[in-house]
Amino acid sequence: MPQKTIIIAPSILAANFGNLAQAIQMVNESQADWLHLDIMDGVFVPNISFGMPVCQAIQSLAKKPLDYHLMIQAPERYLPVFKELGANSISVHYEACTHLHRQIQTIKDLGCKAGVAINPHTPVSVLEEVIEMIDLVCLMSVNPGFGGQKFIPQSLQKIEKLRNLIEKNNAHALIEVDGGVNANNMQSIIAAGANVLVAGNFVFNSPNPLQTIAEIRTNTTLAKRTTNNDKQHL
Ligand code: DX5
Ligand code: ZN
Repeated sequence: MPQKTIIIAPSILAANFGNLAQAIQMVNESQADWLHLDIMDGVFVPNISFGMPVCQAIQSLAKKPLDYHLMIQAPERYLPVFKELGANSISVHYEACTHLHRQIQTIKDLGCKAGVAINPHTPVSVLEEVIEMIDLVCLMSVNPGFGGQKFIPQSLQKIEKLRNLIEKNNAHALIEVDGGVNANNMQSIIAAGANVLVAGNFVFNSPNPLQTIAEIRTNTTLAKRTTNNDKQHL
């Protein structure tokens, strides 16, 4: 069974902030589907990325749907703000929410796609009670806080487990894989069942980011997920 079209979400964190307009223009013209924005508060993660004024500038220039990844403690303080900042989807971290169910509901009430991000050490089973109500799971394949890290290989098994959880519950959540995605691992990531690829350094630190995005499109269109059905025939 051929995999549905993969969503490509370049992460603006890896762009040259001295020329953000050019980076966004490149994404606008590219075959990317979403623009991924990493918001870090220096508390939940040991790094601070960028804040509202920068998001506002990005919003005014970007033509692709904005995918906000909130690496912040108690994200409920800012959900309406990110809606105002053009969010198409908002992911909050499971580890940062005491009342995750309520935050998911708030994001949906705001009219955004609701996402939950999980750290590498967090088992996918914690999502069992909310999987049916969410639109997106941001599965962290590095420890959040920094771009340019190495993909954690165990993430592939987690993607498979999450795919099973989604199918078992007849849920519709997309699996977004975030961290260390590159040409060497994207085929396996898709084969494991991912729908959305976030790519920061692989795109923005390549000699020709526009072409790199086009190559991700080609590579992922050719990729094929090994379904249970396929496995039975192996
Ligand atoms: C890490 C961020 C990622 C990061 C990905 O905390 O959530 O979105 O920007 O960057 P790369 O693709 O360079 O690992
Ligand atoms: Zn991210």
